[in-house]
Amino acid sequence: MVAVHMERSLKDRSLLGLKDMDRSEIESILDRAAYWEAQTVKVSDKLQHKFIANMFFENSTRTRCSFEVAQKRLGAEVINFTAAASSVEKGESVYDTVRTLESMGMDAGVIRLKPAGVLEQLAAQVKMPLINAGDGNNEHPTQALLDMYTMKKQFGELKGLRVAVVGDVVHSRVARSNLWALRKFGAEVHFCAPANMRADELDVNYITMDEALKSDVVMMLRVQLERHEHNMFSTPEEYRSAYGMTIERASQLQEHAIIMHPAPVNRNVEIDDAVVECKQARIFDQMSNGVPIRMAVVERALS
Ligand code: CP
Repeated sequence: MVAVHMERSLKDRSLLGLKDMDRSEIESILDRAAYWEAQTVKVSDKLQHKFIANMFFENSTRTRCSFEVAQKRLGAEVINFTAAASSVEKGESVYDTVRTLESMGMDAGVIRLKPAGVLEQLAAQVKMPLINAGDGNNEHPTQALLDMYTMKKQFGELKGLRVAVVGDVVHSRVARSNLWALRKFGAEVHFCAPANMRADELDVNYITMDEALKSDVVMMLRVQLERHEHNMFSTPEEYRSAYGMTIERASQLQEHAIIMHPAPVNRNVEIDDAVVECKQARIFDQMSNGVPIRMAVVERALS
């Protein structure tokens, strides 16, 4: 009985997505992130003697580095695994790779995978808690948590907030995680996308670009060229003129509105160069907020 209970609580410490996570659990992560952000001491001994593997089977800058910073700030030992420099190149499977690191004594794993839907099955096959760092086009929970944290810092609360998510929705795990999580808090989420970039399986309202500009938060999405199997627009300029956050469009936003983007950005495609660091943009604040959010998530996995 005790063993079964322990097994379940280990699994509960995984973070696979926000769609099925209770609002109260999300709230406690956001609160704990605020606690970590307020700490003046840069490195704590909270997770001293704990080993964490960062296993990236798809490229990353922000998520991988901010997980590493978060883990080091908690005093953990960090192993960075990158598929491109590993035996994956010799044909080793994701499962064998994760089991290999687990068998070396990892206490938790952070994982990013290219195909959607593999993560849940993998999490059921291993004992250590897994944290989703990007699961195909399915979920990117820590990105949505840091996005929500950024919005909360700006507006105080999420209830009633009008959020427009603009761009390559069909390929976006960020759009999905934000949609599912923000709705739990009473935010009004709309999508805006060209017809061939919509996610028809999602129950969400699509609005025009002019309507999106009336929102409190305009979240621009990266055009994910690496996931496009064929050309989804004629030229970058054509996309920019129809769906880009141009200087002209940014000037039409309400004074209190903010512009977000998960990054990396395609400058002068979905967002103009001059808008990336304008007064209303929160893109680099999102990156800063990623550290305390990931500290809270990693602590939750291991405490
Ligand atoms: N926002 C985000 O996931 O960025 P990376 O792909 O650089 O991690």
